[in-house]
Amino acid sequence: MNLRKTLKVNDRGILEIGGCECTELVERYSSPLYVMDEQYIRDVVRAYKKTIETTYGNGNMAYASKAFCCKAIYDIMREEGVCIDVVSGGEIYTAIKSGFDLNNAYFHGNNKLYSELKLAIDNGIGTVVVDNADEADMIDELARACKREQKVLVRINPGVEAHTHSFIQTAKVDSKFGFSIKNDDALDMIKLLKGKKNIRFAGLHCHIGSQIFDKKAFALAVDVVTDYVAYLATEEGIEVQELNFGGGFGVHYAEGDPKYNVEEYCDYVKLLTFALKDCAERKGIAMPKFMIEPGRSIVGEAGITLYKVGAIKDIKGIRKYIAIDGGMTDNIRPALYDAKYEAILANRASEKCDDIVTVAGKCCESGDIILKDVSLPKARRGDILAVLTTGAYCYSMSSNYNRNLTPAVVFVKDGKSAVAVKAQTYEDLIRADNALDYKD
Ligand code: LLP
Repeated sequence: MNLRKTLKVNDRGILEIGGCECTELVERYSSPLYVMDEQYIRDVVRAYKKTIETTYGNGNMAYASKAFCCKAIYDIMREEGVCIDVVSGGEIYTAIKSGFDLNNAYFHGNNKLYSELKLAIDNGIGTVVVDNADEADMIDELARACKREQKVLVRINPGVEAHTHSFIQTAKVDSKFGFSIKNDDALDMIKLLKGKKNIRFAGLHCHIGSQIFDKKAFALAVDVVTDYVAYLATEEGIEVQELNFGGGFGVHYAEGDPKYNVEEYCDYVKLLTFALKDCAERKGIAMPKFMIEPGRSIVGEAGITLYKVGAIKDIKGIRKYIAIDGGMTDNIRPALYDAKYEAILANRASEKCDDIVTVAGKCCESGDIILKDVSLPKARRGDILAVLTTGAYCYSMSSNYNRNLTPAVVFVKDGKSAVAVKAQTYEDLIRADNALDYKD
């Protein structure tokens, strides 16, 4: 089980996170409940930032909001002095409302809407990461209206594709993200941007995938991208001042995944900074500003989801199902990606795991299974089940399928808890519903 100082079984046999007993959290805030360990989030962010400062110097990290977005997480990122990456008007609006300085934000997206670009530029977005030619005119026009020069990066597709346990180098030009560097697509885009009066081309961005353990993939990306930087400098006279290598660091979900502590997570960052320093020196290019955009490795292991066990169905000789009061509406990842998780009976956490069960969600969908064949103590109705490593891409991908309510998000720290997002109510669900009133 992937426990740590701030996620442990206490001497009463109860799972504790951030110094709070999970049983008490459920009593106080009800279930299902997302719980985020604030100290863990801050520890990882500080460690990444420090690693960049000590091993490279000129650079920072941007937290990838898509992993988990709400005002409280932006407060934390602001306090820690790091940047954020946003991908929609909704994330931008949330950041503005939390008081985050958009000058420290990177705006991504393969189809940024005009309204989103306007919201971003009007509010002083620091960097737009350009992903299609249509954006150039829109950015130029919006920046002119604000009387400023908009800094941009160009998202390139370096032909390095990584998945959880392996990576491949492809000549693949076929992707909805980025411009290929295997043909002239990226160069044409850079030239187009450099020709715009109100745009300042600053550098390149790439993101090779998510939940990657194979560090060689990152090293290869640095090599390929710096080859391109050298080519731009020598052949085209184009200077690249900033390189952003995206996110993608793999985290522990279940048996078979490596387990890293905060220091070990920094190895991903060190690998990138060392590779960049080495490549820059060998290839004779000026050391650009270094950026990364991790999401999952910052909030993933910080989060757990607490559920109450309800119906138990033992199909003799076949399978035993225990059903929980949430499911694919608060965690779509098992149904969508066949993602694996680990779970603990939080109220009986030191009891022997002598039962094999499948944990079913409550949605009307047979694929709504959160864990398959996991060992737990014999569960009873009312027990509290904690699913670990749910801090990334669970709340942010939640839905109201079956009109189930989105659970609250509670942050915990030093034995105290605070609501970051209130639980939805039935009233919230029907707030936008309207009686039909046809007009011609
Ligand atoms: N930067 C860019 C441009 C990205 O596209 C992503 C993730 C990140 C940063 C952050 O990557 P991370 O450090 O979190 O791996 N819904 C999927 C994950 C999709 C990731 C998309 N892009 C999941 O639940 O596994």
